[in-house]
Amino acid sequence: MKRRAVSPLNRAKGLISAGDLPAVIAELQRAVAATPEWHAAVVALGRAWLKAGEPDRAIEVLAPVVPRAGVHRKRAEEGIRAAERMKRLDRAPTEYVRHLFDQFSDDYDRAMVRDLHYRAPAVLRSLADMLFGAPAAGFDILDLGCGTGRAGELFRPLARRMTGVDVSQRMIACARAKDISDELTAADLDIFLARSRRRFDLLIAADTLVYFGDLSRIFRGARARLRPGGWFLFTVEKQPESGFALGPKRRYRHSAEYLRTAAAKAGLESMGILDCAPRIESGEPVQGLAVALHRYG
Ligand SMILES: C[S@@+](CC[C@H](N)C(=O)[O-])C[C@H]1O[C@@H](n2cnc3c(N)ncnc32)[C@H](O)[C@@H]1O
Repeated sequence: MKRRAVSPLNRAKGLISAGDLPAVIAELQRAVAATPEWHAAVVALGRAWLKAGEPDRAIEVLAPVVPRAGVHRKRAEEGIRAAERMKRLDRAPTEYVRHLFDQFSDDYDRAMVRDLHYRAPAVLRSLADMLFGAPAAGFDILDLGCGTGRAGELFRPLARRMTGVDVSQRMIACARAKDISDELTAADLDIFLARSRRRFDLLIAADTLVYFGDLSRIFRGARARLRPGGWFLFTVEKQPESGFALGPKRRYRHSAEYLRTAAAKAGLESMGILDCAPRIESGEPVQGLAVALHRYG
């Protein structure tokens, strides 16, 4: 019996439902390169870039076809408008971060240690030892952007209960395999902080808040999730000038003054903002800040 060929668009649809965005994009890129006037495929490629949180690439693909996309024009225009909205966000789009870390998850632990000499979790653990003294234990801990559980591993001895939240299902799967956390949730941390009703003694975020520019919502959410007397420890990359700014690799940098002011507005007191080097890139230490915020009342 003769088998019918599966069209690249149908293959891409199947890959989308399997959650394999890199394969979807590769499939659609091949289809568009072979048949540039296939507007349904061009529009699907633009929308896939959007799903991956890459608005510039989405616009690059969609804008040229709008005048001649015929029945697909409306979807192309909607895609461009959504991409423009995404560009105005003052944080990395959820889809972008999920896609980035889903792709990176299998190699994350090896690459972070081997290539980047990654130390953010160790920096936070030293900060905790300095603040709480030894032997501190019995904390109800929430690890924001827990990834594969590298910070969780170091904080486990301090924990009565360890909860992790991360937007990447595949990073969560790696963390689950290590069996460090009592509970792991796949969610955007901004939404988790705003919607959860749970309270914690200690929040940690190792190298996670670099994906947010404006931190005021996160700080308000953190305060709401902390019990009075609770702590929020995190690392960021340092912005020497005031405020915050988007640096290379779509990671934000924050100044100490910005962190202090935004924390105070959210009802958190900054108890320490220390220089640190959370990773090494191209042979140079990345200038970072290790931050301790406290909820008094
Ligand atoms: C550089 S990794 C750090 C992971 C872990 N904290 C560690 O120290 O190894 C950043 C993590 O933050 C997560 N992340 C970034 N933005 C997020 C968001 N908006 N909501 C939830 N997780 C997020 C990513 O998926 C990724 O796992």
